[in-house]
Amino acid sequence: MNGFGAVLLRNQFILLVLFLLQIQILGLDIDGRPTAEVCATHTISPGPKGDDGEKGDPGEEGKYGKMGRRGPKGIKGELGDIGAQGNIGKTGPIGKKGEKGEKGLLGIPGGKGKAGTVCDCGRYRKVVGQLDISVARLKTSMKFVKNVIAGIRETEEKFYYIVQEEKNYRESVTHCRIRGGMLAMPKDEAANTLIADYIAKSGFFRVFIGVNDLEREGQYVFTDNTPLQNYSNWKEGEPSDPYGHEDCVEMLSSGRWNDTECHLTMYFVCEFVKKKK
Ligand SMILES: *[C@@H]1O[C@H](CO)[C@@H](O)[C@H](O)[C@H]1NC(C)=O
Ligand SMILES: *[C@@H]1O[C@H](CO)[C@@H](O)[C@H](O)[C@H]1NC(C)=O
Repeated sequence: MNGFGAVLLRNQFILLVLFLLQIQILGLDIDGRPTAEVCATHTISPGPKGDDGEKGDPGEEGKYGKMGRRGPKGIKGELGDIGAQGNIGKTGPIGKKGEKGEKGLLGIPGGKGKAGTVCDCGRYRKVVGQLDISVARLKTSMKFVKNVIAGIRETEEKFYYIVQEEKNYRESVTHCRIRGGMLAMPKDEAANTLIADYIAKSGFFRVFIGVNDLEREGQYVFTDNTPLQNYSNWKEGEPSDPYGHEDCVEMLSSGRWNDTECHLTMYFVCEFVKKKK
């Protein structure tokens, strides 16, 4: 139903209401005759018509009508004004590391250096040379100490050490002496057994010991010139020196002694007296 049809229907409804009200107010029945006459029980012949009554008081004010229907949809409004500027947003996460920059340009050359002093090269060379010798000596000492620590035997009074460098008898004597010791002199069974065991355990067959008859043929002494008065441990049939060439002594891994030629080279045993505390 369109808006116009609704208005027509409403108007007709109002007219109907007004018509019914009129009937009520005038005391008429639906056919227009007065209702009082219908109720009368006796019918008397009517008299002359009376005077007209006075005009009635005005009726009470009518009630408010019902709420009307929703009106038609309005036309779309105009575009609104631009809104106020928003607040500044939160700080974003840290960005990725940038790529490595290109190589910079070549720098400006540095200033000219100061004039050098004249070098006393001869003197320096001499000092350096001496240093080299010292270092070499130190290295030898270090090697010796390292070997000593690695393999050494000791008694109450002495250390024994097999030097694993092949040397002749005289070199062996000197080597032990510059280390502060002597070519080993087994002056008793205990010392001899210890050295023999040391040789055998090291896997060697023979080493020089500090015994010789260099001074006088057949008169063997220790390197400290004490005679073999109290102890010796010759192998059977030794010393045997038919040509007088065997003036030095080696100890075999069995612990037995054998006279041999002094110029032969072999390992040797040094002994070091422990310092008394
Ligand atoms: C031999 O042993 C005796 C007694 O033990 C001693 O008095 C003497 O000094 C020793 N001789 C040598 C050369 O070692
Ligand atoms: C003892 O020394 C001599 C001379 O060096 C040698 O010919 C001989 O084989 C040695 N004896 C032993 C058992 O090694």
